[in-house]
Amino acid sequence: LFNDIDLLPPDSLFNIKQRLSQDSRPVKVDLGIGAYRDDNGKPWVLPSVREAEKVIQKDPSYNHEYLGIGGLTSLTQGAAKVLLGDDNKALKEKRVVSVQSLSGTGALHMAARFFTKFCGDKLVYLSDPTWANHNAIFETMGLKTATYPYWDPATKSLNLKGYLSAIESAPKGSIFVLHACAHNPTGLDPNQEQWASILDAIIKKDHIVLFDSAYQGFASGDLDRDAFAVRLGLEKLAEVSPIFICQSFAKNVGMYGERAGCFHIVLPRQDQSVSIENVKDAINSQLAKITRSELSNPPAYGAKIVSTVLNDEQLTEQWHKDMVTMSSRIIKMRHQLRDNLVKLHTPGNWDHIVGQTGMFSYTGLSPEMVKRLEKEHAVYLVGSGRASIAGLNSGNVEYVAKAINEVVNH
Ligand code: LMR
Repeated sequence: LFNDIDLLPPDSLFNIKQRLSQDSRPVKVDLGIGAYRDDNGKPWVLPSVREAEKVIQKDPSYNHEYLGIGGLTSLTQGAAKVLLGDDNKALKEKRVVSVQSLSGTGALHMAARFFTKFCGDKLVYLSDPTWANHNAIFETMGLKTATYPYWDPATKSLNLKGYLSAIESAPKGSIFVLHACAHNPTGLDPNQEQWASILDAIIKKDHIVLFDSAYQGFASGDLDRDAFAVRLGLEKLAEVSPIFICQSFAKNVGMYGERAGCFHIVLPRQDQSVSIENVKDAINSQLAKITRSELSNPPAYGAKIVSTVLNDEQLTEQWHKDMVTMSSRIIKMRHQLRDNLVKLHTPGNWDHIVGQTGMFSYTGLSPEMVKRLEKEHAVYLVGSGRASIAGLNSGNVEYVAKAINEVVNH
């Protein structure tokens, strides 16, 4: 019965880890998956998370009971505030529906299922390039995807002209998936002025916006600054259309394996004839149906940790410091990598490494060079040339620069 099933290639990102773990060379560097490492190259449990775990376990009502289908309310409400801002109008006007999801991927999947059910004929526009899983998530749900130009390889900067013209020529009412900050894989974000023109162009064509917010706090170390695009979108679209937001706590709380995240739908202001409460109830019921049929109810432990961090003043303060620790170490590594390449007179200009933001650098290295880095130097990165800068540390950055210099030169 199953003899003819196609063998699919392994996931290109997770397979990097697999190859690396089987590599017996003494010096190897993992610049593959986007997961923060400390300066010793080790996973880092955030001090705020360690503290939150103690708080949870000390609580006399500590247990492993089911959460409600919509998840932990203290998490979803706290999460909405982090993203939208404490005194956000949409929150005050009670226009936000928030449910817990299986991290960012689960939130995107939920969005995809929602679109399939209520606007399945719409095209989903993804940036070129984008996080590889975006295509898989939407296409698995049967949605048709298209791309909008984003990265200009010649200038290693944003192709704003191409971006705007794709928005202009997309069928009216298409869905645009926008990376809220720290674009994956390029590490290149529009500046504030560019965001304004992108959102204005989207409004002009009645497109729908879905923000993927997986790195808030990772770009600048500042949650508010990294939420600029989302908040501008909310302001501009408040009278116009709903906004969908997928929020992950994998990176900024370091909860990679706990799958803590939220899915938010922010409704526009309605005229008096519509009861927003009824609309919200209906949407909630649809989202609950999705969750119940797929995972029954979302996982509790990570949600409790994140919620504790978000709802305790001291822990929140510690978390903000933790994000600065992570983002500033990454920025330092960007500089050291660039400076080492310059010192080695590696052909080309490497300033884009320091200009980019968040976890990743789109290095501009060719797939051939990436292969040689792995084969000859045990330096692992994604075939597209994306390097997770978090994998660099003071002990290996010089080695990596020398390896890059070698493959660029020969
Ligand atoms: C990445 O892009 O490396 C991360 O978002 C991990 C993942 O799930 O792809």
